[in-house]
Amino acid sequence: MRFTAIGLSFLFHLTLIGGSTGSEVSCSSRLTTPRGVIQTPNFPRAFPVPIKCRWVIDVSDISASNSSIVVYLTQVYVYKGLRFTEYAYYESESMNFGATLIKEITEGNVFEYKLFRTFRPFLVIEFELDQLEGNHVRVLNDLLDVYGFNITYQMTEDVPNPDSCSVQRCSYTGNCFMSGDYE
Ligand SMILES: *[C@@H]1O[C@H](CO)[C@@H](O)[C@H](O)[C@H]1NC(C)=O
Ligand SMILES: *[C@@H]1O[C@H](CO)[C@@H](O)[C@H](O)[C@H]1NC(C)=O
Repeated sequence: MRFTAIGLSFLFHLTLIGGSTGSEVSCSSRLTTPRGVIQTPNFPRAFPVPIKCRWVIDVSDISASNSSIVVYLTQVYVYKGLRFTEYAYYESESMNFGATLIKEITEGNVFEYKLFRTFRPFLVIEFELDQLEGNHVRVLNDLLDVYGFNITYQMTEDVPNPDSCSVQRCSYTGNCFMSGDYE
């Protein structure tokens, strides 16, 4: 137990050092509204690297009998470093339980999914990248470089929107937006 605490405090110091030498970007937040948008800094333009972000979607205070969190992968232009984990409880990186990795986006699976859903009250989206080279997508016949992602989430008791789209499914030749009412 003591060993773990030392390990964590070591990691914490590393993070602090990393923060002071490069990534000034603040991109982590806790989201407690029933719906919202999550995007990399400057989207669709490049963001400073190295980058490390953690968005915590927390719907534990919203009462609903059978609620779920749905994340629609509308605009995902990375195929590395993006990870979705559900939790039974999430206070912080060191205080949580019931973690189950839903999916990590890789080059091999980025085309497969247009949404993820969890029935747990916490969904944590982590994004970590050391360099931009080779980790972003060129669209419009290589004319335009797009960096990062811009995705939406929704707390819902209904089935996820079956008509949702994703830029991956359009082979990056279109665009995909969620309307204000998530239609
Ligand atoms: C909650 O919703 C899911 C999907 O809509 C359904 O499969 C499940 O049976 C529901 N559970 C309860 C307790 O209503
Ligand atoms: C980000 O996504 C939201 C919801 O789909 C959309 O309304 C907004 O225009 C997008 N932003 C950019 C820069 O594409």
